[in-house]
Amino acid sequence: MKDIASMTIYQVYPRSFYDTNKDGVGDIPGVTAKLDYIQSLGIQMIWINPFYPSPQNDNGYDISNYTAIDPLFGTMADFEELVSEAKKRQMGIMIDLVLNHTSTEHEWFQKALAGDPYYRDFYYFREGRSDGSAPTNWESKFGGSAWEKLPNKNEYYLHLYDVTQADLNWENRNVRQALYDVVHFWMTKGVSGFRLDVLNVISKPARFEDDLLGDGKRFYTDGPKIHHYLKELHASTFGPLSLVTVGEMSSTNVENCIRYSNPNEKELNMVFHFHHLKVDYKDGKKWQLDRVRFAELKELFHSWQIEMADGGGWDALFWNNHDQPRALGRFVSDKSEYHYQAATLLAATIHFMRGTPYVYMGEEIGMINPKFTEIDKYRDIETINHYNILQNDGFTEQETMNIIKERSRDNSRIPMQWDSSHYAGFSSVEPFYPISDSKKWINVAESVTNEQSIFYFYKKLIQLRKELDVIQKGSYIPLYLEQERVISYLRKNDTTELLTIHYYGEEPVQLQLPDHFLEAEILLSNSDRQELTKQIKLKPYETLAVIRQD
Ligand code: NOJ
Repeated sequence: MKDIASMTIYQVYPRSFYDTNKDGVGDIPGVTAKLDYIQSLGIQMIWINPFYPSPQNDNGYDISNYTAIDPLFGTMADFEELVSEAKKRQMGIMIDLVLNHTSTEHEWFQKALAGDPYYRDFYYFREGRSDGSAPTNWESKFGGSAWEKLPNKNEYYLHLYDVTQADLNWENRNVRQALYDVVHFWMTKGVSGFRLDVLNVISKPARFEDDLLGDGKRFYTDGPKIHHYLKELHASTFGPLSLVTVGEMSSTNVENCIRYSNPNEKELNMVFHFHHLKVDYKDGKKWQLDRVRFAELKELFHSWQIEMADGGGWDALFWNNHDQPRALGRFVSDKSEYHYQAATLLAATIHFMRGTPYVYMGEEIGMINPKFTEIDKYRDIETINHYNILQNDGFTEQETMNIIKERSRDNSRIPMQWDSSHYAGFSSVEPFYPISDSKKWINVAESVTNEQSIFYFYKKLIQLRKELDVIQKGSYIPLYLEQERVISYLRKNDTTELLTIHYYGEEPVQLQLPDHFLEAEILLSNSDRQELTKQIKLKPYETLAVIRQD
């Protein structure tokens, strides 16, 4: 199962994938029902976002019981069936564990609140300052202070995310052991992998102090004992088994990512990092719009590819997930006239890189952001918090919504578009999220019946990765650096050279092909390019891969 170089992983946000019990929310049997579809893409593993009991304030990332299934999503028997049906189709299930925090409704936090000293030390309770204000000036990633005051006491607890997501104290050996027991529980259920939520923020500093330069993240990101904890997690749980592990790393750097993912370090198999998805943030701020800085995007891709390879690290390759507005319409046009070109360009750009590609549900059919313009269409807690923050900061309703519709995580959380029917084939009742009008022209039913569709382009990319050693292991050499909107690289091994060119623009651009590629074979093209010439005039959003074998 564990050949991370040849595999492609498909991400399912279960709430929005397929609703079988007619409550407007997707469920685990809904994933099982669609396994044949996922398999038909050529996928080897499916990452499923959290389905554990939870008050659902952060859509399940606020876990109140680590070892059960929220009735909203089904039963343990449903989960066991999913694992076994996936195995029959040679696919593994990767579950999503949130080890940095629990819901404040978790029994551990409730016992801590009731004064049980054993459980109080599971979390970070700290006294407020003498004036009653929070222990430090750290900010929550969802807006506001990272500390929440307990009623009638000058005492606070730490929550780097929502106020209902209390940070666990990894310094406490009992906490770590309790979490390792959770990992074991799921290993015995036959899962094949773990996606570990915001894993690089679990190690907090020994002393909490104000951050005079920022929001506090520099004190706990890739924190002091992080590598020690990950080595211990590895050795105590999945280390001896052939499971696939990926850590979500917030605001990290390449040095740490190499350590997290180099097999000799015995921590994880690979990492998600997000620098390439911040090149349209203004001054690093998500809730301020800016145009895409392509030069920066390109530099980030190239430098991470090269440095991770040099250091023996391994990347997760992705554009989309449940926390990101879809890349289509963000980095490239989402106009229908360019739909196929733009979606396939994005795909080919990362699928030929070194790492393990992830496909977020609906990406393979080119789903686009609905960009809803009324706040009552949004469900996400981060979005709603920032709507309020922007309004308090004096932005007009229109200005606020212009930002929200671009940046909200709900852009990627709307229901999967299976067909063009009223609820997009997702459910037979009104869904939890609104349906996008784009279901009329972007849906699975259409995609799978048209061999020229985005779906078949993804299928081809996934197949090529399985077949070609040069994609899995070849070296990476950036090319055409002078062209700002061209991301191009050569992958190379002893016998093969694979040249890929990805053009992020609409105006025609001319490139010169290296002489020794004139006789090469066109491996993949999203335009009708039939032959190679010395001068290549790139078409809007063109992507091209050519291969030479000795
Ligand atoms: C990252 C998850 O992907 C996101 O959805 C969640 O809100 C935060 N971690 C907090 O758990």
